[in-house]
Amino acid sequence: MQREKKEKKPFPKMILKYVGRHKWAYLGGIVTLFVVDFANLYIPEYTGDIIDGLTIGNMDLKGALYYVFLIFVVGLILMIGRFFWRYFIFGSCRKIELEIREDMFSHLTGLSMNYYNRNKTGDLMAHFTNDLNSVRMAVGPAVISTFDAVIMTIMVLVKMIQHVNLELTLIAVLPLLVILFGGVYYGKAIEKRFSEKQQAFSDLTDEVQESISGIRVIKAFVQEQKELKSFAKANKNNKDKNMRVVKLNAVVWPLLEALIGLSSVITLLYGGYLVSKGDITPGEFVAFNQYIGSLVWPMIAVGDSINMFSQGMASMSRIQSIFDEQPEIKDTEKTNNDITSLQGGIQLNNLSFRYREALPDALQNIKVNVPKGSTLAILGRTGSGKTTVANLLLHMYNVEDGMISFDGRDINEIPLKTLREQIAYVPQDNFLFSDTLQTNIAFGVRNFKERPAEKVKHKLFLSRKEGEEAYLEQELYNRESQADKEYGDLEAVQEAAKMACIHDNIMEFPRKYSTMVGERGVTVSGGQKQRSSIARALMKDAPILILDDSLSAVDTDTEEQILKNLKENREGKTTIIIAHRISTIQNADHILVLDEGKMAEYGTHEELLAAGGLYANLYEKQQLEKQLEAV
Ligand SMILES: Nc1ncnc2c1ncn2[C@@H]1O[C@H](COP(=O)(O)OP(=O)(O)OP(=O)(O)O)[C@@H](O)[C@H]1O
Ligand SMILES: [Mg+2]
Repeated sequence: MQREKKEKKPFPKMILKYVGRHKWAYLGGIVTLFVVDFANLYIPEYTGDIIDGLTIGNMDLKGALYYVFLIFVVGLILMIGRFFWRYFIFGSCRKIELEIREDMFSHLTGLSMNYYNRNKTGDLMAHFTNDLNSVRMAVGPAVISTFDAVIMTIMVLVKMIQHVNLELTLIAVLPLLVILFGGVYYGKAIEKRFSEKQQAFSDLTDEVQESISGIRVIKAFVQEQKELKSFAKANKNNKDKNMRVVKLNAVVWPLLEALIGLSSVITLLYGGYLVSKGDITPGEFVAFNQYIGSLVWPMIAVGDSINMFSQGMASMSRIQSIFDEQPEIKDTEKTNNDITSLQGGIQLNNLSFRYREALPDALQNIKVNVPKGSTLAILGRTGSGKTTVANLLLHMYNVEDGMISFDGRDINEIPLKTLREQIAYVPQDNFLFSDTLQTNIAFGVRNFKERPAEKVKHKLFLSRKEGEEAYLEQELYNRESQADKEYGDLEAVQEAAKMACIHDNIMEFPRKYSTMVGERGVTVSGGQKQRSSIARALMKDAPILILDDSLSAVDTDTEEQILKNLKENREGKTTIIIAHRISTIQNADHILVLDEGKMAEYGTHEELLAAGGLYANLYEKQQLEKQLEAV
């Protein structure tokens, strides 16, 4: 999922804004880091002092205990200091991650349909997971590593030279320099292998996800073997890419240990020689050994931090490009914010539209007037442009001025919020969220106060252990019913459900309106989903209702009932019904027949029958089918 293309991009400035917000915490973290590193220097020194004092004999037990006490105090400072730099810096990087994620999500919800047509869901998901992860690493652990390495190295070197011996320092540090440069090189090599490994893993995940989502098709077409083969390939690729990381590490780590060993050997040899000559004391010798040990980590950290920074940069650039994406559809200077409601009159005036320049017209010169309170039906073969009309009425795509107006006001003048609030829409794909039926139906009108049940639901599902299941289910149910009572919109929900002829079905579910649908809940049938989706739109009680092929999955009796309910309840309000079946639309005030995006016919049922064109043709065919069914 994560694309690791090496592209040179400008510095992603947005990160400065986020880090800037936490500058005091960062400063606090770095200062405490400094204190910790400084305090750290005293442990080897005091240890050396004890050894010297005891060997030379000018220190008694009390004196030694005093130094031990000092070491203890330093240890205490280290403990507290380490807590605080973790708190300051890791805390900030988690907060930054949260802030970016929130801004990203809110920015994404503002982007237009065209953006979603162009981008894969998987890639967008990767920005929320992998990319944010590496940004966090870059503004957290990498900052610590860098500062720690630099501060520590300088302090330790100064201490070794001042406190012990210059020559010994130079000689012992030599192998460590090899670690430093090797580390930088290793960082680059491992980054490449690591991103290959990540890619292989996300390919594997995609493979599994695709197969599980499509399992019904796979089984129905008996393609399990083929799926197994392609899974095995992705699985092996994942293993191979992991092995490449393992192999490199298998060579590098023993080498690293050998270099550290070499440094110790040199220290022992030359340091021992210096002690025997009397140039340094045994205590200084011991301290030196400890100092050298504390230099190893910073040397390794340099390569690590470079790695984390470069990965973080690449991720930040990708996130920056999301932020740079401007919503195509938004309120402009043409928008008249005084328009807060619509009456329901719709005029399409020579409406032409294409999804992209390179594509042919999806709609051409559509000219229809829908008076307030009337019903317009749109009929046409698949791909004739019916859904496109609905999309355009909802301003999901831009159209030129003058092509669509509501109550005589151009669509480009109407604030998006007003427009979409005043239109209730039943989309063709009837999407339901993984939530209770009640929440799904009340979706368009729910108040954004969090219902208590919603808060506990998540926790309950997370804490689910075997055996606790039944109890949790019951608990969830209780709290949900409680929430329903408190928030009291169940009655309105039931009203809408009754109109959409889904109420009786819902009452048959064991948990009724609290039934969870979607991936974690029951599977509702296609027709049930469609009617829940109609109920959701009816609940909104808007001046304009658009039903996109919303009665295709219900039987004709239910269809008749729903249409009757609509007629009664939507008196004086505008309705647009898109359908394939003539039975659905024959009572509409006007019928628009689309053919390849053009207005093929327009009129009432009787007029169109009399015209003897496409509509009359279709009518005859469907009558015939009906008679056949009856036989
Ligand atoms: N997002 C899109 N990008 C590009 N072309 C599109 C897009 N959506 C639809 N089209 C094209 O526009 C034309 C009209 O599509 P539309 O979805 O409006 O048809 P429809 O009448 O609703 O069909 P159906 O009855 O199958 O729902 C089709 O040729 C379709 O391929
Ligand atoms: Mg459609």
